[in-house]
Amino acid sequence: MSTVVIDIRRARSDDAPALADAHDEAWRTAYRGLIPGTELEKLVARRGPAWWDAAIRRGSRIALLTFGDAIAGYANYGRNRAKSLPYGGEIYELYLRPEYQGLGFGRRLFVAAKRDLVQMGQPSLVVWALTDNEAAVGFYRALGGRAVARSTERFGDKVLDKVAFSWAR
Ligand SMILES: CC(C)(COP(=O)(O)OP(=O)(O)OC[C@H]1O[C@@H](n2cnc3c(N)ncnc32)[C@H](O)[C@@H]1OP(=O)(O)O)[C@@H](O)C(=O)NCCC(=O)NCCS
Repeated sequence: MSTVVIDIRRARSDDAPALADAHDEAWRTAYRGLIPGTELEKLVARRGPAWWDAAIRRGSRIALLTFGDAIAGYANYGRNRAKSLPYGGEIYELYLRPEYQGLGFGRRLFVAAKRDLVQMGQPSLVVWALTDNEAAVGFYRALGGRAVARSTERFGDKVLDKVAFSWAR
């Protein structure tokens, strides 16, 4: 019998290639048919190992959920970027590789990121999701998020709606 260790830990520089790979697969799967293909490929291309390595080295908060030696998913987070919203923290991205979705790992990553934000002195937080990303919207609602703002984002010639969920203290 073998035991697989599931862990959540801060990303290290040597994680950059595997993290880029997890990001690419998760984004391509989540946004295929939603974000125009050429725009999606541009977004993915920008986030190679060098981008992740630089983010890790400058101290960005990036939590990895590891399943044995594999990176199942990641969350990155920090200060809320939208100053018009009265929440101190923000989860910028939370993504799992498709084969690790639906197993409770998203919740575990969210809880770990939220806990770290509290330790950083940010007890409230916000997360943005594309309105048409039904999985993300269902997930954040299931986690108790409250829809508090709406906005749009342009991807090439397509404009998509997005919604902000918040958790206060
Ligand atoms: C969205 C995502 C992070 C959720 O992670 P996950 O591990 O699949 O979700 P979990 O298994 O932890 O589920 C946690 C809760 O959310 C609910 N949930 C998950 N996916 C859902 C969906 N598609 N619709 C409705 N509820 C959902 C679960 O039922 C569960 O609720 P419960 O604890 O009350 O039973 C993951 O599916 C993912 O990475 N998707 C692609 C990337 C993405 O869209 N990221 C968000 C970008 S903003």
